[in-house]
Amino acid sequence: MALYSEKVMDHFRSPRNVGVIENADGVGEVGNAKCGDIMKIYLKIEDDTIKDVKFETFGCGSAIASSSMATELIKGKPVSEALALTNKAVAEALDGLPPIKMHCSVLAEEAIKAALKDYYDRNGIPYDAADFPAEPSCAHCETGE
Ligand code: FES
Repeated sequence: MALYSEKVMDHFRSPRNVGVIENADGVGEVGNAKCGDIMKIYLKIEDDTIKDVKFETFGCGSAIASSSMATELIKGKPVSEALALTNKAVAEALDGLPPIKMHCSVLAEEAIKAALKDYYDRNGIPYDAADFPAEPSCAHCETGE
């Protein structure tokens, strides 16, 4: 079996939603201290819905494919659904990632959460701190999960 699924290769070669949103309502940036990869997510939010989302990822192919798929999964969805997106859902939508690359999908989940937290903070919207990692960095990499 090929190491990477067709979907991973497709989203790596032709990533969706690459770029920057000027005047974004929320911006989240997370980095993986170990591999040095960085992911930045921009959200445009209207009526509690993700109207637009863009990303910039300086990282490995799996991180790029994960960012691309994650943006596709939350675009047009309610904020609550974006908040509930897990790295596992991203990896499943990509038809799987090799185990040693699962942490790359974690960056996508954390970057979206960081952008949503930024949106909440900017607008004074109360939120449950438990929904957000205390330190959005790839601690998962330390455990290899
Ligand atoms: Fe760094 Fe994939 S190896 S995010």
